[in-house]
Amino acid sequence: MIESVKVAVIGTGNNISALVQGIALHRATGSLVGIRRPVLDGLGVGDIEFVAAFASSPEKIGTDLADAIFLPPNNFPRLISELPLTGVTVRRGLTDAAEVERVAAELAGAEVVLYAAPSGRPETARAYAGAVLRAGAAFINTTSDAVARDRQWLDRFAAAGLPLLGDDLASQFGTSVVHHALLRLLEERGLTLISSYQVNLGGTEDFRNLVANGNTKLQSKLNALATGASAADRVQMAPLGYLSHLKSHKVAHINIEAQAWGETPVSLDVKLKVHDPSGAAGVTIDLIRMAASALRQRRVGYLPEATPLLKSPPGTPA
Ligand SMILES: NC(=O)c1ccc[n+]([C@@H]2O[C@H](COP(=O)([O-])OP(=O)(O)OC[C@H]3O[C@@H](n4cnc5c(N)ncnc54)[C@H](O)[C@@H]3O)[C@@H](O)[C@H]2O)c1
Repeated sequence: MIESVKVAVIGTGNNISALVQGIALHRATGSLVGIRRPVLDGLGVGDIEFVAAFASSPEKIGTDLADAIFLPPNNFPRLISELPLTGVTVRRGLTDAAEVERVAAELAGAEVVLYAAPSGRPETARAYAGAVLRAGAAFINTTSDAVARDRQWLDRFAAAGLPLLGDDLASQFGTSVVHHALLRLLEERGLTLISSYQVNLGGTEDFRNLVANGNTKLQSKLNALATGASAADRVQMAPLGYLSHLKSHKVAHINIEAQAWGETPVSLDVKLKVHDPSGAAGVTIDLIRMAASALRQRRVGYLPEATPLLKSPPGTPA
């Protein structure tokens, strides 16, 4: 029998809510809806065991992970009426580098650490990465702050014999993958791109944070489009917008202006509405299993198979 993956989560926000609840839904009903890889390297979706969780808000600290994920400002909906307790009590996260040792000790036993705190705090991301190195676990950076695409950190994890995956998630069916696919289609069909833009509106705490502090995210969104140098200056990102009444929805608008045969114009507008945290959980479940499998097989550093699930893998600009 395969041993379940021992996972620690940093941050108990909407994405962790979607992940914890989605796994519980799958366990309770067997549903495979929205699951990209039912089995990955022998590991099923239900083969995940949460062993530690960290938060910054006093209301969440000391509660069971299954209760913490419903506390405000989280606003991802309930997926199942009865969510079993996890047995994991949420602990106080890192506030400064002096706490790296404490957190490293509290991570003991975790194989994979999922970093899901707010984006735009590179110092915090690196402090946690340091704690995970000491704890000897694989690290997944879901934020847009540079860790895996920072050569020094990648070398440190590789030297310690540990996998490091990141940076930033490319949501399962989000603006990045849809926009990227449309730009690639344009190129494949021989059209010429004139201009393109993306508008992203959302009602989550993540959006509220990114509106105030979105520098690393906007660059990361451009990385995800991986357009050639000639197209890069023709694609623009509107500043992110926070609208509380959208709750956990993200509403995105993609516009493409192009030219076809005979220099005639083509215009394309797409509206996408998704639950943003589901988009994150749908790829995180695969990243966790990739990282665990690599750790168990003693593969180290970055794993190329993770690239389609990330916006800013190693080699992209910080
Ligand atoms: N589709 C998506 O939702 C998506 C896609 C790509 C990347 N991401 C990134 O994933 C991350 C998590 O997203 P989310 O929607 O769950 O965000 P969120 O704001 O709901 O959750 C982050 C949680 O981390 C907590 N936190 C803050 N500082 C902390 C610290 N020092 N230690 C421990 N916890 C701390 C916050 O209180 C909050 O509960 C964000 O960085 C986001 O940009 C999300």
